[in-house]
Amino acid sequence: MPIRMLTLEDLELEGKRVFLRVDINTPVHPETGKLIEHARLEEAALTIRDLTDSKVIVASHQGRVGRPDYIGLAPHAAALQQILGKPVKFVEDVFGPAALEAADSLGEGEVLMIDNLRFTAEENQEYKPAAAQSTHLIRKLSKHVDACVLDAFSTAHRSSPTIVGFAELVPTCAGRTVGRELRMLDRIVSVEKGPYVTVLGGAKVNDRMEAIDALIANNRADKVLLSGLVGLVFLKALGKVRGDLGVDGEQKLVLKARQLIDEDPERFAVPIDVAIKVDSGRREVSVSDLPPNAAVLDIGSKTVERYERFIKGAGTVFMSGPPGAFEWEEFSYGTERLLKAMGSSLGTTIVSGGHLSSALKKYGIHDQIDHMSTAGGALVQYLAGKRLPLIEALERAADRWGAKR
Ligand code: 3PG
Repeated sequence: MPIRMLTLEDLELEGKRVFLRVDINTPVHPETGKLIEHARLEEAALTIRDLTDSKVIVASHQGRVGRPDYIGLAPHAAALQQILGKPVKFVEDVFGPAALEAADSLGEGEVLMIDNLRFTAEENQEYKPAAAQSTHLIRKLSKHVDACVLDAFSTAHRSSPTIVGFAELVPTCAGRTVGRELRMLDRIVSVEKGPYVTVLGGAKVNDRMEAIDALIANNRADKVLLSGLVGLVFLKALGKVRGDLGVDGEQKLVLKARQLIDEDPERFAVPIDVAIKVDSGRREVSVSDLPPNAAVLDIGSKTVERYERFIKGAGTVFMSGPPGAFEWEEFSYGTERLLKAMGSSLGTTIVSGGHLSSALKKYGIHDQIDHMSTAGGALVQYLAGKRLPLIEALERAADRWGAKR
């Protein structure tokens, strides 16, 4: 069903101070602290380029409290400046005097980035719209902005204040990323068909478990091909790997995996071989010969062949989280082969997350995939048919500000 929402063309934004809520939450290298890729920043730049006559305040969260990727946005501002080819001011503040003064003194065509929204307690919580409007964060910021552009599609499933709080306070519309994602997903939902194959990898085990639950509940996961850390959790649940995997809340996740397998063993495919790191580089071992505490960085070639067969027979394939550490040449095999299998599949293909969208570009096959989204959890919730708080906020804004302002 088409979504009621305003776009940049529906609001008079020339000369106005615009709060632009993007999602430039980016993986951070654990040792160097540098941003690993720029996919979401490049997306955000598309909307900023269309706001050339406005005074743009760019805002995003980054990481989660207590995690290594919970950092300030100075590196993001520097990267955005490079991408846009024009200055991006940065202020180490979110809604204190420094941020508000910087916002007030912006000139037309200038871009300011405020710091990580999750440095404020309120942005780390979820609110009903009326409660979000009463947070200190929204009360302060809304007095210093004329309009809001919601473009954080990948945060659409979080009802944090900057996602749901502005819609009825200042004229609010969707940015280019939200528009593009919804257009593409609308098309996909109208043509997708079974069997539904989901390929899950990467290190965010909790998120992948939530994805499995949501997709199963909506009959969108006939076969789930597991890899990465989530694959190891399932192998542990099957008693095929031992030892500590170093995952937060590991015991609970292993129990959850066991329960999912018991409910429907045929639904899940786990790796039969993996690639581990040894001094000389990559070595493939079968799962039964896996040494304790080995660094598993990719799936092995037998697993790749098996998974490729499922992908080729699918009506719809959805991949979230890379099968291996593809940033390293010797561990990119699984990710490259499975993405290429998706590229040549006759089914509908959807790839989710900034990491995988960089991988697609690296292998030069991004135009062979039906929809490449930088979103993770939000996309899963959308595909699973859930109502997303950001979309509801856009609908409320369309009702409130529908006539041109
Ligand atoms: C994401 O990467 O999925 C979004 O930025 C949301 O982040 P979160 O899962 O930490 O809320």
